[in-house]
Amino acid sequence: MTGSTVAIIVVAAGSGTRLGEPEPKALVSIGGQTILEHALTRVFSLADAAQVIVVAPAARLDDARALALRIAGAAADHVTVVAGGDTRQQSVEAGLAVLEPTVDVVLVHDSARSFTPASQFEAVISAVRSTGGGIIPGLAVADTIKQLDWTGAVERTVDRSQLVAVQTPQGFPRAALIDAYARAAEDYTDDAAVFAAAGLPVTVVDGDPLAFKITTQWDLRRAESILGEAAPTATLRTGIGIDVHGFDAAQPLWLGGLHWPDEEGLAGHSDGDAVAHAVCDALLSAAGLGDIGGNFGTSDPRYAGAHGDVFVCATVRLVTEAGFSIENVAVQIVGNRPKIAPRRTLMEDRMSALVGSPVSVSATTTDGLGFTGRGEGVTAIATALLRR
Ligand code: CTP
Ligand code: MG
Repeated sequence: MTGSTVAIIVVAAGSGTRLGEPEPKALVSIGGQTILEHALTRVFSLADAAQVIVVAPAARLDDARALALRIAGAAADHVTVVAGGDTRQQSVEAGLAVLEPTVDVVLVHDSARSFTPASQFEAVISAVRSTGGGIIPGLAVADTIKQLDWTGAVERTVDRSQLVAVQTPQGFPRAALIDAYARAAEDYTDDAAVFAAAGLPVTVVDGDPLAFKITTQWDLRRAESILGEAAPTATLRTGIGIDVHGFDAAQPLWLGGLHWPDEEGLAGHSDGDAVAHAVCDALLSAAGLGDIGGNFGTSDPRYAGAHGDVFVCATVRLVTEAGFSIENVAVQIVGNRPKIAPRRTLMEDRMSALVGSPVSVSATTTDGLGFTGRGEGVTAIATALLRR
């Protein structure tokens, strides 16, 4: 229970027939994040916390829950995820069934209107409170509208000054909305129509062009270009990682995901692969996910003796699940031995295959200075560039 007086039902259970992607529409990506994630990011930026009910495709409930909890962050206890129905109206009803008792204002929002600004939600909530009726955001219609007869011939021009194109979120007093849904005798395409059919008043507040609905491929391109204009570089993140291991003659040498026969090994709880570990730390650092010790526990027996590729693959997975793609990784090895040059490109190929993006490898000595100069161990320094 959250004690919230506002609930926002985000309907995301449609299949997206007109979009024509293999995934249900809410799980289609725009710029590395799904349509549903973009919508929820705005919902969770509201000043006052609301109960957020995500109505998801029944077959993808776990995916929807995972991403909703990720976007909610500290507000995870405000999230309820339920399965939708065959029509939008049935999906809204599934959401209405899980309202918390403290809620007295209900907003219903299309996940497909992903870029709807938080201010539009706030305007709808306050108008519901001040009028006590249904509130819908709308935009004046720019095109001239014609009414056709059944043959397709133009019958008349409709006076567009009396028309609005309606968006979401649509907001209502809770009890009246529940009552209207209980009485609905046919399938309507929006909640205001259900509300009005029960004889209840609905008024329009100003909508926002950003609240357009992603319906077709053209809308998807438009959404991509809006994202691109909004943040051309803000989505890039760099990270850094350093690892050091001392030589241990009793161990085999693993470095950069390669086995080095006849070379003295490196000491460590795992296989001591300083290159792989530095790459992991750089990736985790860029994603803001902490470091290798925090994620994989150096004392965890599952990782005792584990090779570097285990950590790299698990790290790539964490970073990808957090919504990042890897642009590139650079790693420099500092030490006297092994001699890197003869196997440098082989190491690049091996690490690139594990990371799934280009990994460049370089090496240097320290002119005899320090522990690497004395030949006591190896240092690896890595940087990573991620795109969100
Ligand atoms: N919706 C839903 N449950 C359904 C149908 C639609 O939750 N059975 C949701 C959609 O996920 C969307 C919103 O209602 O966020 C508006 O619907 P629409 O844009 O028509 O989406 P789809 O029905 O998925 O698309 P299409 O009509 O092209 O199949
Ligand atoms: Mg539809």
